[in-house]
Amino acid sequence: MAIKSLLASTITVVALFNASQAGVINKRKTACAGTVHQAANPACCTWFEVLDDLQSNVLFSECGEASHTALRMVFHDAIGFSNTQQFGGGADGSMIMFGDAELAFAANNGLDEIAGDLKTVADAHGKTYGDIIQLAGAVGVANCAGAPRLKFLAGRPNATAPAPDGTVPDPFQPVDTILARMSDAGFSPDELVALLASHTIAAADKVDVTIPGTPFDSTADTFDTQFFIETQLKGVGFPGTGANQGEVESPLVGEMRLQSDFALARDSRTACTWQSFVTDHALMNQRFSDAMDKLAVLGQNTQGFLDCSEVIPHPHSLKVIPHLPAGKTSADVEPACAATPFPDLPTAPGAATTVKPVPPGS
Ligand code: HEM
Ligand SMILES: *[C@@H]1O[C@H](CO)[C@@H](O)[C@H](O)[C@H]1NC(C)=O
Repeated sequence: MAIKSLLASTITVVALFNASQAGVINKRKTACAGTVHQAANPACCTWFEVLDDLQSNVLFSECGEASHTALRMVFHDAIGFSNTQQFGGGADGSMIMFGDAELAFAANNGLDEIAGDLKTVADAHGKTYGDIIQLAGAVGVANCAGAPRLKFLAGRPNATAPAPDGTVPDPFQPVDTILARMSDAGFSPDELVALLASHTIAAADKVDVTIPGTPFDSTADTFDTQFFIETQLKGVGFPGTGANQGEVESPLVGEMRLQSDFALARDSRTACTWQSFVTDHALMNQRFSDAMDKLAVLGQNTQGFLDCSEVIPHPHSLKVIPHLPAGKTSADVEPACAATPFPDLPTAPGAATTVKPVPPGS
């Protein structure tokens, strides 16, 4: 198919047929009573019940605001961990257990609603908050076409203390500060870049409160590589009131750009890894899942954990050609990897791209 017609029809989503989720009896699996699911490990049946509750009542089986926020929650809960100071249980659910403290931190602004929803589901099923946060994040990612299927391990004990303020990086911090914090939690600059693939299914409600749901790329409902492309384009204006703290000029009408994403895309320590994902969706997904697997059990002793990865739905696959948004040319790219030129990309046809907000409550 010609690039133009593929781009013109925007994206082609190919649904994967998944027999195990379609009610087809598989003899080697156990039917989970009261659900349509069968489990290879019967001990995972209770997690299928939680999956159904989450999808029906919290995430709505779509790559909308709730799935995005559930992924952000994974990061903010788990990164409360330090290798050098005695604090934080990592991926321990302290964001919910000690929500009175942690949800009041400025960096956690906007996470109160998902925290309340996940608490309700966890309590209804007798699950710990650490486990529910990781399950919801993995399911939220799976609701996005093009995403990798993350693992899910169960067994995190309840948190015993809140994380202190300051463990979550802020978008207005210099790259040095962000990399130092991530390193203290055990993550390399490359792993941070990989984790930031999450910003391809992301929007900001609180950076500019006059324009809630303003996305970080032109395709916030798909797990593609456009975030890594669009952060490399010259900024030309603000989507809302102007320079808010942590915000810099973005390349597209309706798009939000974080100062931290702008800086990491251009810093010599991170720019080449950033650029390496532009045309390599498979590499981006592999590095993202590796880093997420690590984040999901940060600070936890996984001995005795139960692997219920089978509960995570199979994400729909996605065929999309990495492209410059309509109206942009290679002259708009600000390449920052000294070792390798920025790849040649086709420009999507049509009038200059305007990015639509992510609907609230989706
Ligand atoms: C340098 C590190 C990071 C900074 C400074 C940062 C900052 C931010 C900010 C300011 C927002 C907008 C919040 C709002 O106004 O509503 C946001 C959204 C988001 N972040 Fe990050 N982030 C970082 C890393 C990560 C990581 C590692 C993940 C996941 C693994 C992540 C996942 C998300 C998601 C999914 C959203 C969208 C939430 C939504 O649409 O409701 N972020 N981030
Ligand atoms: C975790 O904490 C919740 C809320 O206090 C409680 O209901 C639950 O029994 C605890 N779970 C475990 C495994 O300790």
